[in-house]
This record gives sequence, C-alpha cells and structure tokens, in this order.
Amino acid sequence: CGIVGYTGERNTVEVLLEGLSRLEYRGYDSAGIAVVADDAVASRKRGGKLKVLRESLESAPLPEGSIGIGHTRWATHGGPTDQNAHPHLGDEGRLALIHNGIIENFAALRAELEAAGEAFESETDTEAAAKLLGRAFRETGDLTSAMLQVVGRLEGQFTLLAVHQEQPGVVVGAAHNSPLLVGFGEGEQFLGSDVSAFVKYTASAAALDNDQVATITPEGASVVDFSGAPVEPKRFEVDWDASAADKGGWTSFMAKEVSEGPEAVANTLRGRLVDDSVALELGALDDAVLRDLDRIVIVACGTAAYSGLVGKYAIETWARIPVEVDLAHEFRYRDPVLTPRTLVISISQSGETMDTKMAVQHARAQGARTLSICNTQGSTIPRESDAVLYTHAGPEVAVASTKAFLAQVIGQLLFGLHLAKVRGTIDDAAIAEVVGELRELPDELRQVLAEQDPIKELAHWMSDTRSVLFLGRNVGYPVALEGALKLKEISYIHAEGFAGGELKHGPIALIEPGQVVFVVVPSPRHEPLLHSKIVSNIQEIRARGARVIVVAEAGDAAVLPYADIVLRVPLTLPMLEPVLQVVPLHIFALELATAKGLDVDQPRNLAKSVTVE
Ligand code: G6P
Repeated sequence: CGIVGYTGERNTVEVLLEGLSRLEYRGYDSAGIAVVADDAVASRKRGGKLKVLRESLESAPLPEGSIGIGHTRWATHGGPTDQNAHPHLGDEGRLALIHNGIIENFAALRAELEAAGEAFESETDTEAAAKLLGRAFRETGDLTSAMLQVVGRLEGQFTLLAVHQEQPGVVVGAAHNSPLLVGFGEGEQFLGSDVSAFVKYTASAAALDNDQVATITPEGASVVDFSGAPVEPKRFEVDWDASAADKGGWTSFMAKEVSEGPEAVANTLRGRLVDDSVALELGALDDAVLRDLDRIVIVACGTAAYSGLVGKYAIETWARIPVEVDLAHEFRYRDPVLTPRTLVISISQSGETMDTKMAVQHARAQGARTLSICNTQGSTIPRESDAVLYTHAGPEVAVASTKAFLAQVIGQLLFGLHLAKVRGTIDDAAIAEVVGELRELPDELRQVLAEQDPIKELAHWMSDTRSVLFLGRNVGYPVALEGALKLKEISYIHAEGFAGGELKHGPIALIEPGQVVFVVVPSPRHEPLLHSKIVSNIQEIRARGARVIVVAEAGDAAVLPYADIVLRVPLTLPMLEPVLQVVPLHIFALELATAKGLDVDQPRNLAKSVTVE
C-alpha cells in the first residue's frame, strides 16, 4: 500500500493523485483520497486501479482543497471494494483517516465502539481507528493530541494519516513498525510512505523513527514521540532526479530501467573509488569491527538474493571470510547461529520488504552486526541496520528488478574490496586491477545495450516457447537463476536456473530435442578450467538435442562450435562478469513478454515491494 499527505497552496487533489501514481509500484487493489475544502471533508474512493479513481474524479470532481490524504490499498481485512477502500471517516464525517498495516485488536475495538453507538460502513480494521480518532478529537479538540491518544490503543503495525475539518492546514501522521517520511517544502509540506510520493516537489526529507507522530502545516513540520516529547527528525536530501520516475519516451518502465543500467552502476561507484582503491564510509562498522568478524550471512529475497550469491563469491574470494546466502524468510524462522562476530548483510532495493526487515531485526536482537545494501533513502531496513551502503541507482518502478540488481552487485563488490583491504587479504595491485575494471563497467554496459537486436529477434522467434532453462557455474550460476526468474516473472514461461555441475544430478532429464537452454559462459582467458567445464555441460545437453544460446565474452572463440546462438559481452574480471552477462537475459525477458503482449511493468500477482510476510 502507499500513502501520501499534503498541506499547501497547490491543487491538493492533483498532488495526491501524482503521489499515488508514484507509489503504484507498491501493489494495490483500491485507491482513495480525502481533502478538506471550505471547512468540510470531501472524499472519493474506488476499488480497482488508480485509473478508476481518476475517471470518477473527472466526471464528478472534488474541490481542490488545501490539505488532503491519499491511499492505495492492498486488501487485508475485507475485499477490494469501494466501501473498504480508504479513507475512512470518523467524527460524523468531519475526519478522514488512511492506514497502512494491520490493526490486530480491531475486532475488540469495533465491538467497543459499536456498543458506544458508532455505526460502521466497512469491514476494515481501519474504520475502527477512524472512529476512535474521531472520539478522541471530540475530547481533545486537537488532531495531534487525539492521534497520541489513539496510537496507545492500537496493536499491530501501522502508518496512519488523518485530517479534520476543524483544523484546516493540518495533516497528522503516526508510524509504528511501518514507514512514514516527511517532505519539506516552501509554504507546503508532505507526508509519504516513501520518498517517491513527493520527490517531484521536494528533495528535502526526513524519515520518522518508530513510534513517532508528525504534524505538518504549510509552514513546517513537527515530530513528537508517542509519549508526546518533541524530537528533531534527521533530514536528508534525496539524490533522485525527479524526472527519473517518469516513463519518458519509453514503452515501459522496465525498458527504461534496463537502459539506465550504465548510470546506475556509475552512481553506485561514484565517490567510492579513490585513485586505485576503494573508500567506503560505514559508520558503526569501523575497521576494528570488520577485522573481528568471523562470518557473513547475506539475507534478501528474489532478485536481491541472487545478487547476494554473486556477493558471496566475491567477498569470499577477496576477503577470505565464510559467507552464506539465505533467503530472508528461511533465515528468520530457523534459529540461525549468530554472534557479535557475525555480519548480516541485507540487500533490498526498496528497503521495505517485510521478510528482509524481519530477518534484520532478528539478527540485531541476536547480537549480530548489520549492514544494509539498499536503493531507497530513508526506508526502513537501512534505518534498522548498523550501517548502510546506498546503491543510488535511482527509482526503480517496474516490478521486475533490473538496474537495481546491477547496483546491488556493485555495492557488494565495493564492500568485498573494502573488507579485504581492512583485513589485509588482498594486495594493492589486486585492488587496483579490480578498481580499473569497475571504472570500465558503465561503458561496457553501454556496448551491451547497443547490441540488442539479436536478442530482440531471438525473443520474437521464441514467443511460443513453453520452457527455458538457464545454466551457469560460479558467478554465472546466480546469473542463470536471475535470468530464469526474470523470464517467469514477466512472461509467465516456465523457467529454471541450474548450476552447470548439477546438470547430471537431475536437470539433464529435462533435456529433449528442441529444449532451449541459455548458458552463461565465463571467460576462457581468466577461468580456463571453469570454461572447459561449462563447455562439457554444453556438449552433454547438445548431444540430447538442446538448442544452446550462450552468453560469452567477446573474444571467446572456443565456445563457437558448441553454440546455436552467441550473445556477446565485453571481457572483464570474473567477479564483475555477472553485471554484464545478466543484461542480455533481462532484455530477453523484456522482449519476450512484450512480444506476448503482456504488461511487463506490472506482471500478474506480483508487487514491487512486498510489505507483508
Ligand atoms: C519482490 C519483487 C522482486 C524483488 C523482491 C525483493 O518479490 O517482485 O522484484 O526482487 O521483492 O525486493 P527488494 O525491494 O527487497 O529488493
């Protein structure tokens, strides 16, 4: 779900709709807004996509208003109907409230409120909070005081935003285990569940800590904790270019974001390569802490977890410390072994994935150190970690992650080099070599992007394919997994990624004449042994009739006799290869889904940011 709040001179309805459209990627099935105009609350809400709400507002407009709140809802209590959509009203229609999260004790609250004579219009947990807030307002006459009273009665996790017609100019928000950010403008202020809700209007933001209430008026914002004590929120500047969240001339956000890979990588590297070395500022994770580590666990979900597998190979190779990669949800619920000498690295584009967040909280509670590699400034996971390495890849809107994967790999390569340097497991010349190759990556990515035509042809030719397999070894293995994930996510084709060595232990049974297999091939110049092993794998599957498409470096002639089709990428160092090799696979998935006429940005059943466990 997404939330946005506004107070200021602009057309409030427009600001809210704009904010909600920026939050669309979060996944939702209904939407609504409320504004206060002429001292009265006016609201509109609709089941379905934002388009439905927009159409309704076009045919019967709401007044512009000077304060307002907007919401996209992912149904939990009650289906995605007009009634259940937010806002919900309280104080006999004088107050409007929106809510992200779950209020666990809502049944008891509702019973209590019904006994006190309140009539409910929806099945939601939120309406109970709205009624409660309305009653608290009648007692206190002030929305902030009322909010402080109400948050003490709610169990669960929530971000709440409210307006009351007797307090024009004021929007109040509260956060408990759920994100809320303030955007600071000139004569206008914003609230949002992430910075994309308001980054078009202001880059100055602050994230609320847990259990805080923010009150915004056109002049400014004030924050108090749940006991009412004032706190000074820590401000930061969002470094996203506002226009980056527009589709521009592209047919899809995914196409645009694939094309932004070179800039994403350059931005992740920016300021972190100094001369021939790396320079990272990791706050609490200082050199003494890093030297003392005896183990690293990387936790993440989906594409981020595959980037973590690349990180494992690189960090182990350079820093000589054991690294394991765990899906965040598996990690959290199996009593993992953690000590103060364990570093848990979480990887998340959004910084809001609930499974990953719970894993980080668990790691901290067990005394482990935590590092977040994240793309979204001010999001929850970095705030709950000892240190953060932001990837600065810019907003990613398409559900299927592409440029963020590249940036996540780069973030881990930088960390691996830094750790190796601190622990003395790598010499300066080796660091300099990697740094030199990292600097080349953005241009090499541009070359890969310039050679898309054969991939497009291939995708068109294959649009009827029912199953595609992906093989890789070493760092090519996560590339294979990611290639398969992308294809299933957006083209709904059955796809599996395998480690080449595992082929004969099962997957080879799937090979029948005509089966298409993508093979990610390491450079024979750097990895002759691995190269020969993967060529053997190719021979095994070709002998059984597979059609083999290889992703190989530009100078690898040895692979030619074994491939039906070759997709070329420039030569780089082994640990950097995934950044280049994954791009043709991303393009392939994109083109194939496009050829099938599918919505590549919002594939069925998936959300960009999964904020429930
Ligand atoms: C969802 C998205 C994936 C993404 C994963 C992790 O499943 O559909 O594209 O890789 O979440 O998201 P995160 O924001 O934590 O990187």
